Amino acid sequence: MATEITAGFVEVLGREALMELDGLNTLEALEDWRVSYLGRRGRLTTILRAIGSLPPEQRRTVGALGNQTKTLLEERLAIRLQALKESGVSRLAMEEQIDVTLPGRAISAGRLHPTTQIVREICDAFVAMGFQIVEGPEVEWDKYNFEMLNIPRGHPARDKFSSIWIDYRDQGGEYPMLLRTHTSPMQARVMERMRPPVRVIVPGKCYRYEATDATHEWHFYQVEGLAVDDGITFADLKGTLYEFARRVFGPERRVRFRCDYFPFVEPGVDMAIDCFACQGNGCRICKESGWIEIMGAGMVHPRVLEGVGYDSSKYTGFAFGLGPERIAMLKYGIDDIRLFYSNDLRFLRQF
Ligand code: PHE
Repeated sequence: MATEITAGFVEVLGREALMELDGLNTLEALEDWRVSYLGRRGRLTTILRAIGSLPPEQRRTVGALGNQTKTLLEERLAIRLQALKESGVSRLAMEEQIDVTLPGRAISAGRLHPTTQIVREICDAFVAMGFQIVEGPEVEWDKYNFEMLNIPRGHPARDKFSSIWIDYRDQGGEYPMLLRTHTSPMQARVMERMRPPVRVIVPGKCYRYEATDATHEWHFYQVEGLAVDDGITFADLKGTLYEFARRVFGPERRVRFRCDYFPFVEPGVDMAIDCFACQGNGCRICKESGWIEIMGAGMVHPRVLEGVGYDSSKYTGFAFGLGPERIAMLKYGIDDIRLFYSNDLRFLRQF
């Protein structure tokens, strides 16, 4: 074997090795290459080991060339290794054949449902005025949904709240349980639990037995508000709700209060804001009236206060209830309330 080892042979081997190295793109391939040339039984290593048995005149030239080649291969290998490690991207690209010039895939971010967004915005406006957020049950007793709100059995106001009753009779054969038709039962529940001063805001889901159309859903949200204390007047109601309207609909807003009837308030009002779309001149959104009704409100009825054990000669308060979907429809020009619950991404993605 020793006689076959010539300077030319070593040179060819070195060139071959370098050409091969150029085509390698993975760490594994580089390692294989190293083993096959420079490993303990590598082709170059074997040659170097055999040099000692060459005739002296060959030994010097082949020996020198062999060592040079070894150093060269080691250096080139080190450079390739370094380059491959430094560019992780290009390594990925080479190993997995990814086209790194393609535009990236957008990470789609989730977002809050428009109803959740508007409920939070409404609550924030009242929290800023010192109200505290509380929540209550969606399956409610007749007692809280109606009776304690001054709507006894047989009262005509019950018809206004087309109710979904739970299929459960009490001992007297009556149906005492329903899906709450409004968040007002929380007025009684909150006052039962705490003494004045009371300032709470109650967001939550409500249900009514109603056919759906563009402005009616059988399930929807409400946000209830209640403030009870020594000396609260109708002026407090007006000031609070005026501030709310300005925060949610803009500082230019004007408000209008007209008489309305709800059994649990006296006097009761419906509150409207001047139309933010046409500044009160009359347009499609305000149905040419210049005004948009946004909530029911009033001074808490003395019977409601007494029903929870409050002294109605000492304490007074105001309450209000509004529909967030309706507020969102007005604010964003949404023309069908059913969109909120149809899970259509083309609608939801707009918020
Ligand atoms: N609960 C009433 C409704 O659903 C709204 C309301 C709340 C009115 C509080 C007055 C006071 O229509």
